[in-house]
Amino acid sequence: MEKKKLIRIFDRQASRYDKSKETLKQQSMRKSLISKAEGEVLELAVGAGANFPYYQSGVKVTAIDFSNAMLEKAKITARNNNVDAKFICSDIEEISFEQHSFDTIVSTLSFCSYENPLSMMKNIQQWCKPGGKILLLEHGISNNRFVAFLQKILNPLLYRTIGCHHTRNIMAMTRDAGLSVEQMENYYLNMVYVIWARPGKKYY
Ligand SMILES: C[S@@+](CC[C@H](N)C(=O)[O-])C[C@H]1O[C@@H](n2cnc3c(N)ncnc32)[C@H](O)[C@@H]1O
Repeated sequence: MEKKKLIRIFDRQASRYDKSKETLKQQSMRKSLISKAEGEVLELAVGAGANFPYYQSGVKVTAIDFSNAMLEKAKITARNNNVDAKFICSDIEEISFEQHSFDTIVSTLSFCSYENPLSMMKNIQQWCKPGGKILLLEHGISNNRFVAFLQKILNPLLYRTIGCHHTRNIMAMTRDAGLSVEQMENYYLNMVYVIWARPGKKYY
């Protein structure tokens, strides 16, 4: 899909994003992941800032999103949670940072939207300092055959309407990108993954 169209889809969702209440399980997944972030943090596709309540004090967040409407919500969430954040409105697939710029890279529910998620997974390892943290909460294809079948059928419609693929194989992607996964948890019939990782050795 054209990027302009994708941005419009997310702009339209922004007002819903900051009002939607997450379940206790979703909140606890975010908390256990995001509380491990430290130092200079890059947060990809920040949306309305759903992770901001869970950052420890002292982190400095660079938050990116290509939807201005989402960023406006995220700025308010950052202020309300005293998060030291700066915001960049850009397509993360078009931007580049110097090698080893960040102590921690965070992505939650963003790899479903990228045109080329594998190259993004490789990029973030370059941007992360050697031994730094890569913290991911992502959703993708279930290992339950019936659920996966439904996901494949519904995927074209879901991508067209909410801008999000439901058939990405998250663990295969981390493996193919050479990420060094230290801990992984999965939920909801393996559709959702929480991953604590570091850049693979070849990115040092
Ligand atoms: C499903 S939302 C997730 C938002 C947030 N990370 C969260 O956990 O609630 C996906 C976000 O990714 C942003 N996004 C998708 N593709 C992007 C890209 N290529 N560059 C920058 N932002 C992107 C959208 O604008 C949207 O805010």
